[in-house]
Amino acid sequence: TPLPTLVDIEKSAREKLSEFAWGYYSRPADGQTYRDNIEAFKRYRLIPRNLRDVSIRDTSVTVLGTRMDIPIAIGPTAYHRLAHADAELATAKGAAAINTGMVLSSWANHSLEEVAEATPPGIRWFYMLFYKDRGHMKRLLARTERAGYTAIFLTVDQPFLRFQIDKRPVTSPVPIRLPNIFDEEPPHAPGSAGYREYMNAALKQPATWEDVQWIRDNTRLPVVLKGILSVEDAKMAVAHGANGICVSNHGGRQLDGVPATIDVLPDIVRAVGGKAEVYMDGGVRTGTDVLKALTLGARCVFIGRPALWGLAHNGAEGVQQVLQILRDELSLAMARAGCAKMSDIQPSLVVHQSYYGV
Ligand code: FNR
Repeated sequence: TPLPTLVDIEKSAREKLSEFAWGYYSRPADGQTYRDNIEAFKRYRLIPRNLRDVSIRDTSVTVLGTRMDIPIAIGPTAYHRLAHADAELATAKGAAAINTGMVLSSWANHSLEEVAEATPPGIRWFYMLFYKDRGHMKRLLARTERAGYTAIFLTVDQPFLRFQIDKRPVTSPVPIRLPNIFDEEPPHAPGSAGYREYMNAALKQPATWEDVQWIRDNTRLPVVLKGILSVEDAKMAVAHGANGICVSNHGGRQLDGVPATIDVLPDIVRAVGGKAEVYMDGGVRTGTDVLKALTLGARCVFIGRPALWGLAHNGAEGVQQVLQILRDELSLAMARAGCAKMSDIQPSLVVHQSYYGV
């Protein structure tokens, strides 16, 4: 029988998740960008180098000064409680078991302190929202630093929250806490009209470069801008002191019809010229996808949905399994491509299919 792949984990998750959770996690499965993220990887072809000693492969990488065992980390996604009762505590355990990083979402159902306590040695970063009240942001930055998180992620491709566009009320099938947004229980049930009003009053929508600069000036932690797709914004990010850039289209959940992330990655890597670390996410489903992203200049990749599938499949162990599958596939792909370590992974290993006139 073949080794399990992420397709098997996705199938298992589909069976285990409620209709509500599956729909929320998948959305918009029919979007052009969602599909293109996945398909675009298949338009690149690897040209292996042979007869090199690849008996031992080192998949480790340094991200923002921290060593991780694999160049594959978990990106921020909301509401892990919809997938598993242990929610983000389980996701963090799964990531820590493979010694890789995880970005905790502001929409997490456990507080950043609870997640830090549940997995003491983990590599953790926090995705912070933009608030109108800068005092609130200062307190949140202090909490993040105190709890041992080592970077702040700012999502820059979401000028408005979805519920400003889709005003239909939403009722979660499980109780949802948002302890990184509210100091106490939410004053209104998430999804309700009162909650939306409250959020609209609290959040800075849309945020601008000025808000990025304020955060850059008010934390000692590295700052990563997630959601960059243009060379111009990548240069602006560097000019505003970003330490990292995550090339992302939000897994196809924001503007539909934008390029696949893997297609814009090389231009952004070139424009940034080593002045910040460059990562990517969107559509990473196999070890060869990871290898291709690295050949095109990503320092590491992030996964969104696959981690949620793992969580639904089997809690912390399921998340660990997803990372293990990707790690083992990457290690095998590296061997077959003639790469023993990260520095062997070079742009000359990959061509776009247009190379041979398809
Ligand atoms: C997301 N994503 C996301 N991004 C972000 O910056 N903040 C967030 O709170 C969320 N929430 C979220 C929820 C769900 C259910 C999904 C699927 C995605 C986007 C996420 O970080 C990432 O960019 C994409 O998921 C990457 O694409 P793949 O790996 O899902 O194809």
